[in-house]
Amino acid sequence: MSRRSIDPARLLGRISTLGEIGRDAEGRLVRLAASDSEKLGRDQFVAWLEEVGLEVAVDRIGNIFGIWNGAGEEKPLMIGSHIDTVINAGIYDGCYGVLAGLEVIQTLKDEGFEPSRPIVVAAFTNEEGVRYAPDMMGSLVYSGGLDVAAALKTVGTDGTVLGDELARIGYAGTDAPGFLRPHAYVELHIEQGPVLEREGVSVGAVENLQGISWQRVTIDGDANHAGTTPISMRRDAGYAAARVIAFLRDRAKASNTPTVATVGCIAFEPNAINVIPSRATFTIDLRDPDEDRLKEEEAALAAFLELLSAEERVGISVERLARFEPVKFDPAIVRLIEAAAGDRGLACRRMTSGAGHDAQMVARIAPSAMIFVPSRGGISHNPKEFTTDVDLVAGANILLDVVCGLATGERPE
Ligand code: GLV
Ligand code: MN
Ligand code: MN
Repeated sequence: MSRRSIDPARLLGRISTLGEIGRDAEGRLVRLAASDSEKLGRDQFVAWLEEVGLEVAVDRIGNIFGIWNGAGEEKPLMIGSHIDTVINAGIYDGCYGVLAGLEVIQTLKDEGFEPSRPIVVAAFTNEEGVRYAPDMMGSLVYSGGLDVAAALKTVGTDGTVLGDELARIGYAGTDAPGFLRPHAYVELHIEQGPVLEREGVSVGAVENLQGISWQRVTIDGDANHAGTTPISMRRDAGYAAARVIAFLRDRAKASNTPTVATVGCIAFEPNAINVIPSRATFTIDLRDPDEDRLKEEEAALAAFLELLSAEERVGISVERLARFEPVKFDPAIVRLIEAAAGDRGLACRRMTSGAGHDAQMVARIAPSAMIFVPSRGGISHNPKEFTTDVDLVAGANILLDVVCGLATGERPE
């Protein structure tokens, strides 16, 4: 039987073109949200939207939408992801979902498919949260979870203000976030973990996504001479930070649960070889698919910080940067994904997303789910991130099938 298919060369060509945009002097892909390099990526995406004949809309938080059949009365079906990246990123994270979304629309448009509702491809602002916290900010604002005015005032790690930066790069739009309320939202993404590859499965039907807790910890001790200060007299902020890092790892390792904990940023002051650190500032990323357990982990960390403060005679303060509860996706869309994989003879498994995604935010306002494809070696947030062309094309075709189903009102029981 001949099946509808996206154009593999067009999709793969766009992924590699976008993957070359925003490289720094060392060749690293760095398209942090609302930066000059991200502007170049946005411009390319908008050029493609226009080439495909979609109506382009940008909302106040800088989310970009390509709307097909925007005049339709029905609520739109939305597909998409993000095109901002981490530092020294791979080329697939987020971009794959956005460009596959565009590819699906272009394919359907070219064939004269008549959707019963508008179809929209979205690129949400600042999904990564590297420059401005929290992550998934554009979709969070879009879904009403964060006030747009407050979000625009967010100060970045480089001291910039998000609203100023969006205006500077020409992406401070005028539409109110949430101006299109989706009928449903589907996000295609690389898995960014090892499960699909390990099991030899081509498609993940993502049924839930774990909770995320981000905190910034500041520890204050005393700067003093590294050679003359006896260990017993030190108030060493660096050592205290190291104890927190070890506590998190040891606890996660001993717990026999899926809890994961990461300290990804750290800075010492004055940061000199022969001076005991007077201050350590670092971030903690804690995740767990179970809300009660995530709360338990946060409480255990807070208790440890209290103990540490007394034992090491250091001051400790904590700032919350992000907190998102675990999310369950729409079971009917998950079944639609499984059915599409089955129809194409592709092995599929249900799974939990370890990474945060825009779908987790949009799920607040519309039935949502995600499709995963394998990541080689489970590597992501790294230039070694890789998914085979075969898997990329297969995933985009599953998205195509799911979109056709949802755009013609199909909802499996
Ligand atoms: C987003 O990439 C995340 O941190 O999960
Ligand atoms: Mn992503
Ligand atoms: Mn990411």
